[in-house]
Amino acid sequence: MRLILLGPPNAGKGTQAKKMVNELNIPQISTGDIFRKNIKEGTPLGVKAKNYLDEGLLVPDELVVEIVNDRLDQDDCGGGFLLDGFPRTVVQAQALDNYLEQNNLNLDIVLNIHVEKDVLIERAVGRRVCKNCGATYHVEFQPSKKEKVCDVCGGEIVQRDDDKKETAEKRIQVYLDETQPLIEYYQSKELLATIDGQQEIAKVTDDIMKKVKEIS
Ligand code: AP5
Ligand code: MG
Ligand code: ZN
Repeated sequence: MRLILLGPPNAGKGTQAKKMVNELNIPQISTGDIFRKNIKEGTPLGVKAKNYLDEGLLVPDELVVEIVNDRLDQDDCGGGFLLDGFPRTVVQAQALDNYLEQNNLNLDIVLNIHVEKDVLIERAVGRRVCKNCGATYHVEFQPSKKEKVCDVCGGEIVQRDDDKKETAEKRIQVYLDETQPLIEYYQSKELLATIDGQQEIAKVTDDIMKKVKEIS
């Protein structure tokens, strides 16, 4: 199965992706996670991407498309994949269409997680992530058992640099300008399913899995 999780920053894409890949047995491909890993390791890609992430801007399409195409070529994507945070522009969506066409593949569904702006900001400022394994928490909505300690690996839990209020607002604006047009893009291909993201985490997962089962 080949799926896309679409939605504004802090809609809950990463949170849902983690639950979905367990059930569907396909890899989660998060471009944001790939960039953060490269920044942490100081790779050439990380050096190129860092400023964009810090500023809440999109990394240039050419760079993103190359990375995703390479990732999709890997063996573990043979049985399908879940894209989290890609595509984010019409150019990226067209590049993905080209890749799929060249490889005789098709998309099964695009899940659009809808969340209002004020809720997005609340989620951003309260989000915490594990420095070591990337597990995601929220101080109020999804707290770790022990304060500042990751439930999964015992690592330190910190705030993401781009979750400061100003940068979170900037990312939402970038989403509205660059990414929101993809709703129509996938609607016209009859691939879009919209999910109410302002429910409890488990209920959002249920709604997503219902849609996925409808088409499988
Ligand atoms: P990326 O990492 O993809 O960031 P994003 O899209 O801004 O999304 P987030 O990771 O912030 O949110 P999410 O939807 O995953 O929410 P989460 O599950 O964590 O990208 C970062 C940067 O990388 C970009 O700004 C850009 O620079 C670059 N980049 C990445 N991809 C790119 C691309 N394709 N092209 C160009 N540049 C790219 O949840 C958020 C919080 O809410 C958590 O605290 C969670 O606990 C809580 N929460 C989740 N669900 C619920 C719920 N139902 N109820 C209550 N709380 C909830
Ligand atoms: Mg994410
Ligand atoms: Zn951890």
